[in-house]
Amino acid sequence: MELLLDTANVEEIKKYCDLYEIKGVTTNPTILSSAKGGFFELFWSIKKIIQDRQLHIQVTAVNWEDMIKEAEAITASLGKDVYIKVPVDEQGIKAMKELKHMQYHVTATAVYTIQQAMLASTVGADYVAPYFNRMNNLNIDSKKVIGDIVTLFDKDNSPTKVLAASFKNTQQVLDSLTVGAHAVTVPGAILSQMVSNSLIDGAVEAFRADWVRTYGNKMIHEL
Ligand code: G3P
Repeated sequence: MELLLDTANVEEIKKYCDLYEIKGVTTNPTILSSAKGGFFELFWSIKKIIQDRQLHIQVTAVNWEDMIKEAEAITASLGKDVYIKVPVDEQGIKAMKELKHMQYHVTATAVYTIQQAMLASTVGADYVAPYFNRMNNLNIDSKKVIGDIVTLFDKDNSPTKVLAASFKNTQQVLDSLTVGAHAVTVPGAILSQMVSNSLIDGAVEAFRADWVRTYGNKMIHEL
C-alpha cells in the first residue's frame, strides 16, 4: 500500500513527510494555482524536502509534441526520476507511448473510465490515477470503476499500478484501497482526520489521566 501527498504546499509536505511514511508527492496545475513560488523554484524546494521520494508533475500542453518538450524541461531541471503526469486523451496516450520509449516514469491522470486506464496500461504507464470524488460527482460508481481497473490489470498481469486520487473524505480513500488500489494520493488534512476524532482523543486523555493518577507527571523513562 503506497501513500502519497496530493499537494504542492511546502509546509504541508514537510509536516506529513515527517509524521507519516510518504511514498511521494503528486501535483497538478490546479494544485499549483494555490501554491506560492515560480514553477521550478517551487519544485526545487519540494525536491529538497522529499529527497528520493517520488515527485509527480503534470504536463500542461494539449498536443503530444509539446507534452514531450515539457517533460524534457521538467526532467532537465529536476531529474529523470520525476513521474510525468499526463491526462488520458488521445494526445496524452501518444505522449505517454513516446515517453515510455524514452524511459520516462509516467503517471496517467484524469482517469474517469476503465477504458482510459486500459489504454494507459497498454502504452506502459507506471501508474493510472482514477479520480474518486470527481467520479462520484458525476454519479459514477467510483468504487466499481477502481475495482474493475484493478481486476483488469490483475488479469493481464499488468505492471501498471492504480494510484487513486481526488479525495474529499477518509471513507473515499479506504473505499479505493479495499477494492485494490495499490496507492492513494491524499491531501494532508484527510490523513490527519484518519487519526483524529472524539473517540481517539477520549481514549488518549483517559489513559493519560489514569497514568497521572497512579504515577504522577513523570514519564516511564523518568521513573
Ligand atoms: O491529483 C489531482 C486529483 O487528486 C484531483 O483532485 O480534488 O481536484 O478532484 P481534485
